[in-house]
Amino acid sequence: MTVSSKKLFIKTYGCQMNVYDTERMAEAMAPAGYVLTGDAGAADLIILNTCHIREKASEKIYSELGRLRRIKDLRRSEGGKTIICVAGCVAQAEGREIIARAPVVDLVVGPQSYHRLPDLVLRAGRDGRRLIDTDFPEDSKFAGLPERTVPRRAPSAFLTVQEGCDKFCTFCVVPYTRGVEYSRPVAEIVAEASRLADAGVREITLLGQNVNAYHGEGPDAESWSLAQLLTRLCAIDTLERLRYTTSHPRDMSDDLIAVHASEPKLMPYLHLPFQAGSDRILAAMNRKHSADDYLRLVERIREARPDIALSTDIIVGFPGETDDEFEATLELVREVTFAQAYSFKYSARPGTPAASLDSQLPAAVMTERLARLQELLNAQQMSFNKACTGTRLAVLFEKHGRRDGQLVGRSPYLQAVHASGPGTLIGNIIEVEIVAGGPNSLEADIISDTHLPLEAAAAL
Ligand code: SAH
Ligand code: SF4
Ligand code: F3S
Repeated sequence: MTVSSKKLFIKTYGCQMNVYDTERMAEAMAPAGYVLTGDAGAADLIILNTCHIREKASEKIYSELGRLRRIKDLRRSEGGKTIICVAGCVAQAEGREIIARAPVVDLVVGPQSYHRLPDLVLRAGRDGRRLIDTDFPEDSKFAGLPERTVPRRAPSAFLTVQEGCDKFCTFCVVPYTRGVEYSRPVAEIVAEASRLADAGVREITLLGQNVNAYHGEGPDAESWSLAQLLTRLCAIDTLERLRYTTSHPRDMSDDLIAVHASEPKLMPYLHLPFQAGSDRILAAMNRKHSADDYLRLVERIREARPDIALSTDIIVGFPGETDDEFEATLELVREVTFAQAYSFKYSARPGTPAASLDSQLPAAVMTERLARLQELLNAQQMSFNKACTGTRLAVLFEKHGRRDGQLVGRSPYLQAVHASGPGTLIGNIIEVEIVAGGPNSLEADIISDTHLPLEAAAAL
């Protein structure tokens, strides 16, 4: 049977888990004849894969829907039809409001229902009824989605192994938008990773909102830890690099730290959010760790893997945060030293406990604190990058850069690396010498144009 070709446009907001979900949604729609397009105006189906984490992120959606209304009207005037779908975390959190506020939307689908997408799209197109599916179904979306189709892959891929969160930090919407913690079974992950590796993927980043709380069912019917899962994945010969994100300090177990020492395929980079440096604020955030716990944890990780590059997430201006408490955040940053970091002004999110605290801070205070924090973080990132000058690193080249003949890749420490070289190096791990370190990337000369075997890469 042949299906007529239809066009699908997906715009992705938010975290890497949404990037992964977008790929899976595109794959789910392929059997119904949908082919990806970069042109929203030509699409039969438009999906916005949304993020609810901060106010700015979710407000973007409504302005985007205004733009899509014009696209849809124009297409209708030409006799065409566009189905507009809102997916992702705003869909989950505000599904009914979207339907009420944005008549342009035909379909709202939450992150746990993507395996039902083809059927929902079919029904929305056929009946002309506006549909909403924001259940947390019993059946896992992963089991319901078609196997990954991986014709030609970029050298680096995401793979979601865990979803949802039971931690309930008081500022955060994720437990409400993604639901309870769920870990995919080991066999399912190994099969997916092997398919990706067979398609030429060299590096996989395992994803989860709480990836180090992973506890999926192993082949022995026991619950496996992330450390066990990583060790198993390291045994896939053609897979050369592994990473995982995002980790919670409380779930950074000894066996996981040990894998950083023992597995050369596990890259020396760890994203470990601490959010705030004051113990009072950490308690109010329900983080369940102190600043000192974090420092001691970092010490243990660095003992296991001395060159590890640390990255973090920080929130400034949590309700009631005093100047001194903010200073404690700066102090913790100074004590740890990060290679990279993401920092945000606190954003009150509907339905979260912190949003109803009456000690919300003025925007100007948050702006000033964020600027001071970012100045410190930028300086740390710059000195980390500069310190790489003159060293040799193994870089996985991923794509062409903006300049002619320029390639862009990633160092083991996840820095973007630019070098001049032939396109044939894309997809290979190549020895380079770093000639300059900038604020956001490194410049390098290529030392040898043959793919570095694992042992040689690890020895650099
Ligand atoms: N699961 C991860 C983070 C998920 S959200 C973890 O626990 O670390 C990514 C980051 O967004 C968080 O680490 C936090 O720094 C930030 N964030 C979450 N909610 C926020 C809010 N209400 N306001 C500002 N930043 C927020
Ligand atoms: Fe949000 Fe906290 Fe869960 Fe991270 S651990 S997703 S910040 S509730
Ligand atoms: Fe945003 Fe949802 Fe990810 S709220 S950060 S897209 S889990």
